[in-house]
Amino acid sequence: MIHYHRLGNIPPKHHVTHHEDEKLLMEQCMTRAGFDATYSILYYRIPPTDECRVGTMDLPGFCPVQPIADQALHRRHIRTQDAKPGGDFLTGRKTLLINDDIRVSICKPNKRGEHWFSNAEGDECWFAYQGGGVVETVFGPLPFKKHDYIIIPKATPYRLHPEGNKGTFLAFESTSYIDVPKQFRNDSGQVTMDAPFCHRDFRYPQELLKFDKNAHGEGPYPLVVKFDNRLSVHEYKHFPWDLAGWDGFSYPVAFNIHDYQPRTGAIHLPPTAHMNFAGRGFIICSFVPRKVDYYHKGDHRAIPCPYGHASVDCDEILYYVDGNFTSRKGIDFESISLHPMGVPHGPHPGKYEASIGTDRTNELAVMCDTFKPLKLTNAAVDLEDKDYNFTWIEKEA
Ligand SMILES: [Fe+2]
Repeated sequence: MIHYHRLGNIPPKHHVTHHEDEKLLMEQCMTRAGFDATYSILYYRIPPTDECRVGTMDLPGFCPVQPIADQALHRRHIRTQDAKPGGDFLTGRKTLLINDDIRVSICKPNKRGEHWFSNAEGDECWFAYQGGGVVETVFGPLPFKKHDYIIIPKATPYRLHPEGNKGTFLAFESTSYIDVPKQFRNDSGQVTMDAPFCHRDFRYPQELLKFDKNAHGEGPYPLVVKFDNRLSVHEYKHFPWDLAGWDGFSYPVAFNIHDYQPRTGAIHLPPTAHMNFAGRGFIICSFVPRKVDYYHKGDHRAIPCPYGHASVDCDEILYYVDGNFTSRKGIDFESISLHPMGVPHGPHPGKYEASIGTDRTNELAVMCDTFKPLKLTNAAVDLEDKDYNFTWIEKEA
């Protein structure tokens, strides 16, 4: 998704014969937007069309999932720190917030990735809150570390192994794409020099996946596919995901949030100044430690704390990762706040004043703005701090 990359053996042209040990390899073109957008071409030893059985699977809390029937309009605080660890990267996922463009989940696996999974609804973006690990993908293994974003393109077979068999992740599922915002690329697709990151900040598979009987086991090899809010299970007699080679623009990448180059203005910049990724109907922003706004003329100084805000066309969620939060009280690490369109939000009492004259913030957070309202699931309701909406009220002396 970031630039052209190739691994292994590929022929000199698309759609021509390509042999390994005298066997003709199967070319599989993974194309986006029909044939109009990015694509990769994969050379399979075992055709990924050789499925021998198809079944179904239900994972309550992840898929299928529905929003709650009746959602009152007010600010929310979802305490994901209270979620219990369990399952692998797939069976441990709990979807918290949903709209037509994006789903937001939390996952605290306590085992290696057991299942091979392909999200055929759209791209995924994982954020590793705690610990690193490896994502094993059809494009090759991709090691990741704490505070990495990991982007996995739509319909990529993969499984995620957290280091030490434990981890905490925030996961976004798009129903479209998750990519570098278009305004950060020039006409040739290169990331512009004034973008908050460069091509060198993105990491991607450096070697091909090798079949290993100890790690991958005996066949059949099931692949769980998510599509249309259903899971189907496709079984392959032979392990299909150890490719001979591939090339293209569509493959998983990792990006560490600490490589994001933050911006500071003389006066406060809107959250869009912290944009990291975008998809249809949403943006993902990175708030990282930085200098704060420095305007000072006469009696007037910049107020570094975010201003009160009636975001009438966006829902706004923040996942709090580290540091002190200049605008919030009663929020802990791993909290998710949801400030919906339709009602104003702003800093907690005292936070606005306290920020004046400060010169740095050490906050670390992931923000997502959506253009359609987010609906809560039962998993979110179970983790909700029901008092949050009234924590702005100042106690009378
Ligand atoms: Fe806001």
